[in-house]
Amino acid sequence: MDDIESFYALEIQRDAVELERAGRSIIYLCVGEPDFAAPPAVMDAADAAVRRGDTHYTVALGIAPLREAISGHYKRHYGLEIPPARIAVTSGASGALLIAFGTLVNPGDEWLMPDPTYPCNRRFVSLYGGTTRLIHCGPEENYQLTPELVEQHWGPNTRGVMLATPANPTGTAVAPAVLRAIHEVVRAKGGTLLVDEIYHGLTYERNANGVFANEKSALELGDDLIVVNSFSKYFNMTGWRLGWMVVPESHMKPVEKLAQNLYICPPTVSQYAALACFEPATLAIYEERRAEFARRRDFLIPALREIGFIIPNTPEGAFYVYADISNFGSDSFFFCRDMLHQAGVAITPGRDFGDRDAEKYVRFTYTVPIEQLREVVERLRKFLGTRNK
Ligand SMILES: Cc1ncc(COP(=O)(O)O)c(C=O)c1O
Repeated sequence: MDDIESFYALEIQRDAVELERAGRSIIYLCVGEPDFAAPPAVMDAADAAVRRGDTHYTVALGIAPLREAISGHYKRHYGLEIPPARIAVTSGASGALLIAFGTLVNPGDEWLMPDPTYPCNRRFVSLYGGTTRLIHCGPEENYQLTPELVEQHWGPNTRGVMLATPANPTGTAVAPAVLRAIHEVVRAKGGTLLVDEIYHGLTYERNANGVFANEKSALELGDDLIVVNSFSKYFNMTGWRLGWMVVPESHMKPVEKLAQNLYICPPTVSQYAALACFEPATLAIYEERRAEFARRRDFLIPALREIGFIIPNTPEGAFYVYADISNFGSDSFFFCRDMLHQAGVAITPGRDFGDRDAEKYVRFTYTVPIEQLREVVERLRKFLGTRNK
C-alpha cells in the first residue's frame, strides 16, 4: 500500500468543494468525466430493466445481447469482425484493467508505459507484484510511445506495453502507422500490447466533408492484443460502471475466472441500459455531443495559448488539454492551488500523471459549457496579470 499514491486532483477538488461551501464561485475543470448525462433512451432502458426485475446477477462475461451489440459496433464503426466470444463486459475500463493485468502480470514482471499516463495503470501492475517502467514522452513524441522508445527500454523482465489513444492527461493519439510499428516490436519480443481505447469516439479531426473521421481500432493489427474500452466517456455513463475488453479467444477462460471471483458480474441494470447506446437515435445524440466537445476544444486551446500557456501539439481527442506553465515560473501543484484560491478555477497538477517534467504541466478538462470556458479565460487573464505584477 505504501507504493500506492493518492490522487492530487482529489486534494484540489476537496479544497474547491470547501471554498464553494464557503460561498465562492468555483469552476471545475479537474474532473475527467463528461458533463452530459446518459441520453433519455438509456435512462428509459434502465428504468424498464428495473421494473421487469432484471436486477439479478448475470453471467460474469456480461449478457449475450450486449456482447453482440458491442460486436456490431466494431463492425459498423471500424469494419472489423470481432466475435462476441472475444468480448467481455466489465465493471468500467477499470474492471477490464483489473482483470487484464491480473491475467498477465506475474511478480517481478515489468510493463512499459508512457510518462505522462493515467495514474491507475501503474497501480494495477503493482497490485499483482509487477513494476512499471515509465518512459518519458515529451511534445516531440506527441506525449506518446514510439517503436524506438519501446525497443530501447525493453529489458529482460519486460512483458508488455500499455498505452491509451487518445490518452489521459494529454488528449493526444498514436497514429495508426506508429501503433502498428509498436505492435510489431512487442510481438517480436514475445510480449503483450494492451491498448486503452476509452476515449475512442471523442476525436475531433474532420475529413474533407467536415465529418469526424472514424478512428482505427488497434484490433485491426491482429488478434493477439488486448483492448479495453468503456461506456464512461463517449457514451456518457461514468457512474454506471460499465466497460468491456477484447482479448484473444484463448485468453477468455482466465478472464472469465477472474471476473467471477473479483466481482461476479458487471452491473446488471447498466448492461440492459447500455443496449440502448447503439440505437441510431442515441448514436445521433452522441455525435452532437462530440461536436460540442470539438467546439469547446477549438475555443479553449487558442485562448489558453493567447494568455501564455504552452500547448505545443493540439490534442486530437478526449476532453483534456495538457498545458506547459513554464512561462509562469512556478511548480504546477502550487500554481493549481493559487489558481483555485485566487481565480476560483480548479484544474489538475501534472504530478498525478508522471515523474518527468510533471511540475511543468497542468491538465484542463473541457467538460463545462463554452460560456463557462469564456469565464475561465477571463478569470485566468486577471489571475496571471496579478501574479506578474
Ligand atoms: C485512460 C483511462 N482509462 C481508464 C479509465 C477508467 O474509466 P472507467 O473505469 O470509468 O471506465 C479512465 C478514467 O478516467 C481513463 O482516463
